[in-house]
Amino acid sequence: MPDLCVIEGDGIGQEVIPAAVSVLRAAMPDLHVLPAAAGWECFQQRGVSVPPETLQAVRDCRAALFGAVSSPSHRVEGYRSAILTLRQELDLYANLRPVRSLPRLSPRSDVDLLIVRENTEGLYSGRERLEGDTAVAERVITRRASTRIGRAACRLARSCGATRLTIVHKANILPLTDGLFRDSVRKAACETGVESGGVSVDELLVDTAANQLVSQPQRFGVLVTTNLFGDILSDLAAHWCGGMGLAPSLNLGDGIALAEPVHGSAPDIAGKGIANPIAAVLSAALLVHHVWNLPHIADRIENAVRTALEFDLPVVENRLAPDLTTDAITRAILARLA
Ligand code: NAI
Ligand code: MG
Repeated sequence: MPDLCVIEGDGIGQEVIPAAVSVLRAAMPDLHVLPAAAGWECFQQRGVSVPPETLQAVRDCRAALFGAVSSPSHRVEGYRSAILTLRQELDLYANLRPVRSLPRLSPRSDVDLLIVRENTEGLYSGRERLEGDTAVAERVITRRASTRIGRAACRLARSCGATRLTIVHKANILPLTDGLFRDSVRKAACETGVESGGVSVDELLVDTAANQLVSQPQRFGVLVTTNLFGDILSDLAAHWCGGMGLAPSLNLGDGIALAEPVHGSAPDIAGKGIANPIAAVLSAALLVHHVWNLPHIADRIENAVRTALEFDLPVVENRLAPDLTTDAITRAILARLA
C-alpha cells in the first residue's frame, strides 16, 4: 500500500490538492494518505514554515504531494520558503518539469520536452547578505551536485526515449561556476554512455535556449540546467502546456520525492473555487510513474486528463471557460477514469 504525505500549503494549494488526491484515490484505492502542514499560514500559526513533524512525515512516506506556499517578497525574520526548505532538507536534488502539449489548450500540438533543473544550490543556496549598501547573493555550483543532476538527466533522457539532451548554462560570462556545471554534466554523459544509447548531447547558452524554447520548442528533448535558469525557463516553457494551471513537476531525490504543480498559491483567485487542478493531477501522476513505478496507472490518469480536455470540458479561445470550477474539472477527470 503506497503512503503519501499530503501538504496542501497556502492559497489554491488547498483547492487543487484535495482534487488531485481524489483522482489518485480513484486510480489507487489502497493509497494511504498522511496530511501535514507547511507554508506561510503554518508559519503565522506556529512560527515555523516546515515543522519537524512534516519533514518526518515525508521521510516516512518517501512520497509527498505539495500544493503551493505563499512567500512574502520582503525579508521576514525567521521565515524561510517552505518549498526551498523541503527541497534542501530532503535533498530533492532533481526537479523534473515535463512540458507536453495538451489537447485544445496548448498553442501547438508537437511539444514534448523535459526540463531537469538542479534543485539544491545555484542562486537558491540561501547565501544572501547585506554589506552596507551592497546586497550580495552567492551562486554556488559544486562538482558533486552538477554530476548527480547530469547523471539523472541522462537516465531520464534514456527512459523517456529522448534523442537530444541539451545542457543549458551561461559559461561565457560565468566560466568558473557554469563552466564547472557544463563540464560535470558532459563528463556524466560520457560515463553513462548516453550517446551510444541514441541520445545526442549538445549545449546552449541560457539566453539562446530561452529564445529557442519560444521559437522552436518542438526541437527539444531533455534540457538540464542550474536552479534559477531552470525555474525561469520552465515557467516560460509552461506556456506550451497551455498555461500555469497545467504544468506539473516532481522534486526527486534518492528514494524520496515530492510532486508539486509549477504554479504558486495564486492569491488573485484563491478561495473562488476556480483554480485549475490539472497541474496538481499531472504532478500526482509523475509520482505514480517515477516513484511508485506504476507507469500504467500514471498513463491512465494522464489519459483521463487528455480525454476530458478533448471531449468534455468547455474551451473558449484555447482556454478553459473562465467560469469552470475546480470541482467541475475534477469530476470530468474522474468520469474519464472510471
Ligand atoms: P502564481 O503561479 O501563484 O500565479 C500566477 C498567475 O497564474 C496568477 O494570475 C494565477 O491566478 C494564475 N494561476 C496559477 N495557478 C493557477 C491554476 N492552478 N489555475 C488557474 N490559474 C492559475 O504566481 P505568483 O502570483 O507570482 O505568486 C503568488 C504566490 O505564490 C507568491 O507568494 C509566490 O511566492 C508563491 N509561489 C509559490 C510557489 C511554490 O510554492 N512552489 C511557486 C511560485 C510562486
Ligand atoms: Mg517558478
